[in-house]
Amino acid sequence: MDYQKILDSIYEEMSYRDVTGKVASYIPELAKIDPKKFGMHLYCGQKQHYGFGDSEENFSVQSITKVFTLAMTMNIMGEDLWKRVDVEPSGNPFNSLTQLEQESGIPRNPFINAGALVISDILVDHLDNPKEDLLNFVRKITRDDDIHYDPTIAASEKSTGYRNIALANYMKALGNIKCDVDPILDFYFHQCSLAMSCKDLAKAFMIFANKGSILETGENVLKPEIVKRINALMQTCGFYDEAGEFSFEVGLPGKSGVGGGIVAIHPENYSVAVWSPILNPKGNSELGMKALERLTTLTGVSVF
Ligand code: DON
Repeated sequence: MDYQKILDSIYEEMSYRDVTGKVASYIPELAKIDPKKFGMHLYCGQKQHYGFGDSEENFSVQSITKVFTLAMTMNIMGEDLWKRVDVEPSGNPFNSLTQLEQESGIPRNPFINAGALVISDILVDHLDNPKEDLLNFVRKITRDDDIHYDPTIAASEKSTGYRNIALANYMKALGNIKCDVDPILDFYFHQCSLAMSCKDLAKAFMIFANKGSILETGENVLKPEIVKRINALMQTCGFYDEAGEFSFEVGLPGKSGVGGGIVAIHPENYSVAVWSPILNPKGNSELGMKALERLTTLTGVSVF
């Protein structure tokens, strides 16, 4: 498969001018990003890299990090995690509070904000240095020690993070948050501020395409049965109330973030990341979804 030729034709075909959405602004610092940014990177199982545009520039990966924290938590708790978080699509926006009251404080899945905050609670509870451990995990699977948090983004989200503060307090009241809410939110805001490029994301997510092993070293960091669960959750819940649309258009397990990144995998084949900061009304990268739809259409390969 000539991936570079396919990516080149996607780059030629598409432009930020073709989309109508808006860059995220509820985190003030994210509103400053240049909406014209566009990059894509594919990393295949033969260890080859293909990319275009701004694929090596760092951006705020936001909710994409929920896959990393889920992986760490499953390594700690295994299947006991599902007593605290469910595995169903929510059909609601990522930051919604409404289902929690009817569902006794158990979030629908680990990728909506409520679910990610329960995961933060577990990591803060179990680890002495959760921020450092997350950074080490991401650096290890990306094989890049330069990956870091962006303190300006973390502070910006903290200053306006009223919904997440409400979610954490509400779940504390309902008995599904064990620690104090402040360290949980501090961890969560830092987690979301991780700065990575499309190339970094494609490298990191190769573990989900490679049954939990780092491709270059062969080291296993996640059991294949955990990878199976995480990929299923990316497929069914990775795009919140647009998970059906993403499956329908693209046909790969994936995860988005409000920084405009999307990463997706084709098991035992490749991982791919795309970045365009203009978001559709559901909070997912508008051009990113279109680019991935073209990728699976032009290659004729998806999980379906
Ligand atoms: O908690 C938030 O609202 C953000 N830090 C992350 C949300 C996000 O990335 C949703 N994804 N598309």
